[in-house]
Amino acid sequence: MAFNKRVKIKELLEKDFVEQEVTVMGWVRTKRSNKNVSFIALNDGSSINNYQIVADPSLISDEILKRATTGACLKAKGKIVTSQGAGQQTELMANSVEILGDADPEKYPLQPKKHSLEFLREIAHLRVRTNTFGAVFRVRHALAFAVHKYFNDKGFFYIHTPIITASDAEGAGETFKVTTLNLSKPPLTEDGKIDFKSDFFERETNLTVSGQLEGELAAMGLADIYTFGPTFRAENSNTTRHLAEFWMIEPEMAFYDAEDNQNLAEDFLKYVISYALENCKDDLDFLDKRAAEEENTKKVDQRSEMGLLERLRFVVENEFQRLTYTEAIEVLKNSNYNKKKKFQYLIEDWGVDLQSEHERFLVEKHFKKPVILMDYPKEIKAFYMRQNDDGKTVAAMDILFPGIGEIVGGSQREERLELLTNRMKEMEIPTEEMWWYLDTRRFGSTPHAGFGLGFERLVLFVTGMSNIRDVIAFPRTPGHAEF
Ligand code: 4AD
Ligand code: MG
Repeated sequence: MAFNKRVKIKELLEKDFVEQEVTVMGWVRTKRSNKNVSFIALNDGSSINNYQIVADPSLISDEILKRATTGACLKAKGKIVTSQGAGQQTELMANSVEILGDADPEKYPLQPKKHSLEFLREIAHLRVRTNTFGAVFRVRHALAFAVHKYFNDKGFFYIHTPIITASDAEGAGETFKVTTLNLSKPPLTEDGKIDFKSDFFERETNLTVSGQLEGELAAMGLADIYTFGPTFRAENSNTTRHLAEFWMIEPEMAFYDAEDNQNLAEDFLKYVISYALENCKDDLDFLDKRAAEEENTKKVDQRSEMGLLERLRFVVENEFQRLTYTEAIEVLKNSNYNKKKKFQYLIEDWGVDLQSEHERFLVEKHFKKPVILMDYPKEIKAFYMRQNDDGKTVAAMDILFPGIGEIVGGSQREERLELLTNRMKEMEIPTEEMWWYLDTRRFGSTPHAGFGLGFERLVLFVTGMSNIRDVIAFPRTPGHAEF
């Protein structure tokens, strides 16, 4: 017989199994015992809710019950019965309990009490066994599934773009190098530089910062595509919003202009958030309470006005505010925050890049809803963005979310060969090496647009967690690559 004939706890809670014999497997959360009976709260990851196993000492040996401590893994067989106690409708009357794996209570670090998120980050290999992280990762899964469902239903094709590339799509230079050269004794060229011709790919390569450029190539034949893969940035920013390895969703569409792009992005975000609201009810209810408790520890003027669920529904139900960078600068310049010098970086001139404090002011204090900012100065944006007729701005769009700041970055792309090559030269981007990218503008070019959604920032928003390290199983940040 196969080992795994278990019923998942989620199913036990949702369907009627009364009077049936079932097997459940899972990890002990808590155990309460008296002379006559032991109650074990078991969790198997399928749900935030535990299932109650009732163990009668006349059927289950003392030795087994002693070993069923918090964190131990066990298999219980028995009949499902209507529960006498409050707190659950049914429970399992065990006629056998088998310990699959002990968890020495002297050494097991997770106890049935509240642990700090900081502590749990240090034991990221075990934190998935807590209510909070179970909920976060189930919601993360649902969001990933919703992303694929949304695009599939709209006729988009999922493209797997390379992780190793020779280009730096965003031109920010914050890449991780990929090499098989002997680092203590690399081969050198005549003028003393590292000779990448002898490296594995016979050129200098790095981990990709974005799948966009290859995504654009695919859109020039398949029309509507998206990527969903890992991206890497070596920026040394130790913030609650940055990871060195994160997942990005990048749709790219032929025959879309800037406004089509904005419409798609808004519709897409609303869809995936609604999907989570509809499909992750128990987990979101739990996270809503968790977030409310966290809010209560903050100073009154720093608390957010809405609870988590309220905020999610608000975003789904209201139109995003759309405005240009130039309009946003006016709002910021004339704001009380600027006048009273409450911003760390005061807004004085048109052309400055917005800091996260400015983005959050616009979203949280001024408009009080998600904001789509467009038409940024070309100097602060990437080379591929379409140049507007004013000669100063490009058809960029950033979407800003409450509590997060930038969640999406995108643009209409420059489809005109001459304007694109000129801009690349101005920005010192090597046009010869990017011949393949420029070929799309040489042959059958067309207006097209796309954007990138930082997946962890979305998960952060939907789960109401406050640190991006808590929404990816094994975060990569400066100094951290242990697990
Ligand atoms: O704004 P970014 O840099 O845009 C691009 O990479 C474009 N190629 C996207 C496109 O048009 N196809 O990054 C897109 C999003 C950001 O808005 C943010 O949500 C997320 O990726 N992001 C990060 N998330 C976590 N950690 C980091 N270090 C991130 N950097 C960007
Ligand atoms: Mg950006």
